[in-house]
Amino acid sequence: MRSPQVVLLPGDGVGPEVAREARLVLELVAPDVALDEHLIGAAAIRATGDPLPEETLAACREADAVLKGPVGDPEFDAADVRPEQGLLRLRAALDAYANLRPAGDVLIVRELVGGLYFGASGVRDDGTVYDTCEYTPAQIERVVRRAFALARGRLTAVEKANVLETSRLWRRVVNGIAPEFPDVRVEHVLVDNAAMQLATAPEQFDTIVTENMFGDILSDLAAAVTGGIGLAPSASLSDSGPGIFEPVHGSAPDISGRGIANPAAMLRSTALLLEHGLGRPDEAQALALAVDRTLDTTPTPDLGGTATTAEFGAAVREELALTRA
Ligand code: IPM
Ligand code: MG
Repeated sequence: MRSPQVVLLPGDGVGPEVAREARLVLELVAPDVALDEHLIGAAAIRATGDPLPEETLAACREADAVLKGPVGDPEFDAADVRPEQGLLRLRAALDAYANLRPAGDVLIVRELVGGLYFGASGVRDDGTVYDTCEYTPAQIERVVRRAFALARGRLTAVEKANVLETSRLWRRVVNGIAPEFPDVRVEHVLVDNAAMQLATAPEQFDTIVTENMFGDILSDLAAAVTGGIGLAPSASLSDSGPGIFEPVHGSAPDISGRGIANPAAMLRSTALLLEHGLGRPDEAQALALAVDRTLDTTPTPDLGGTATTAEFGAAVREELALTRA
């Protein structure tokens, strides 16, 4: 049998620092997995001029799963070719439409390959600039079905149906699918209200499903109120090809190169990869547990501790070795 292939894309800023820990942990929990490293983001622009070089995309398409660090670099903020374009193209090319973002006990299911991020945008002669938000019913249906299947009794559909046409379609699609899942109670919450409730009482939510942009914003908020952005992982799944597993946080240029980034989100993304990407729930659970324990024993500076990125990773591997002994 062919060994499972994982493409590792370290990315930018703190990416290579947290990716190193993910590699070491994966080598320990799944030694048979073949890890192949490629460039994406600012690192790829510097080397090739393209944030998603053809050979990176080809390797990702061939892989069983993609493990990715954050992308982004202030150097390219005003450039025409930007690191984030590489990530958006990768998500679209792999059709990784269902983005699962667990934060504490809340699961946000974010649509990832439609909406404002992918609509027509541009500049008109008169100086007007525009970004457009479009959704087809099919694009909404597939991610909403995934969210219903993942919901444990309650699903909150978040939109802005009092203002936006696309949101009214989201609401209709959710209501149309609801009878297929009689055990799930559905509620509709407007996005501004959802943000307020997430900030004040996140524990009342179970599973949230929402469109791309709202999900981007709410997932940072959910992470911040349930332990911090350094802890939040994500899995972006398609219906057939490889999924992308990456932390919710960005490249954190303010702390990069200092070895103090919290690798927990990247390591939890590695656990999601083991579960959803490679079908190895036991290893996934062992890793998730080891990360939880290490957050207690060996916290990094963002959590008020003093552990370095490497010390945190070493402590996770020690926990794993203990539970396996
Ligand atoms: C995320 C990030 C990305 C997004 C950026 C880097 C394009 O913020 O994964 O949440 O907006 O989707
Ligand atoms: Mg984001």
